[in-house]
Amino acid sequence: MRLLLMGPPGAGKGTQAVAIAERFGIPAISTGDIFRANVAQQSPLGRTAQQYMDAGEYVPDEVTNAMVAGRLSDPDCADGFLLDGYPRTLQQVDELDAILERGDTALDAVVLVEADPGELVRRLMLRAEAQGRVDDTDEVIRRRLEVYAAETAPLAAQYAERGLLATVDGLGPVDVVAERILSALVAKSSAGS
Ligand code: AP5
Repeated sequence: MRLLLMGPPGAGKGTQAVAIAERFGIPAISTGDIFRANVAQQSPLGRTAQQYMDAGEYVPDEVTNAMVAGRLSDPDCADGFLLDGYPRTLQQVDELDAILERGDTALDAVVLVEADPGELVRRLMLRAEAQGRVDDTDEVIRRRLEVYAAETAPLAAQYAERGLLATVDGLGPVDVVAERILSALVAKSSAGS
């Protein structure tokens, strides 16, 4: 299985990615988590990424693309992967297409998890209280939602045209959303076979 998980900040990508990846025995790869780990270590990549993340902006494509290309060349990705939060721009879509083409592979499905803006902000403000994530502030959350709407939301149409997109309602208990995603994937795979 080669899967993408898309959705606005707070939709539940990270929460759902782990369970889905486990179910299919593939690694869940979150670009946000990789950046945060690098920020924590203050690696050169982390120092570059931090200024963008703290402002709610996307890390430049060339930096993100190189990081993902490296990660997807790891042996554990040979039989599949779930990408959480990548691609987010047109250039990243092109880069992922090129990586897949070089490996003579293709995506199986793209899952878009949706929730209304009020719920997204509510979740992120709750997480701010619980975890203090640096980019979960009022102003930065607003910016992250704007950047998502401008840069990433339009990408769903591309994957819909390719017949890969499954849109899932992200409202409700975590396990219910997980079941919706799994059902959507089953429906996609039987439609494709
Ligand atoms: P990233 O960490 O991916 O942040 P994000 O996209 O803003 O998404 P979040 O992690 O906030 O939300 P999520 O959808 O994963 O939801 P989650 O499961 O966490 O990226 C951070 C930054 O890194 C970006 O802003 C950018 O700077 C950079 N970056 C990353 N990828 C990049 C790329 N490709 N290109 C360039 N830059 C990139 O859930 C959120 C909260 O809601 C949690 O507290 C959770 O417990 C709760 N929750 C989840 N599901 C439910 C539910 N069903 N009901 C109630 N609460 C729920």
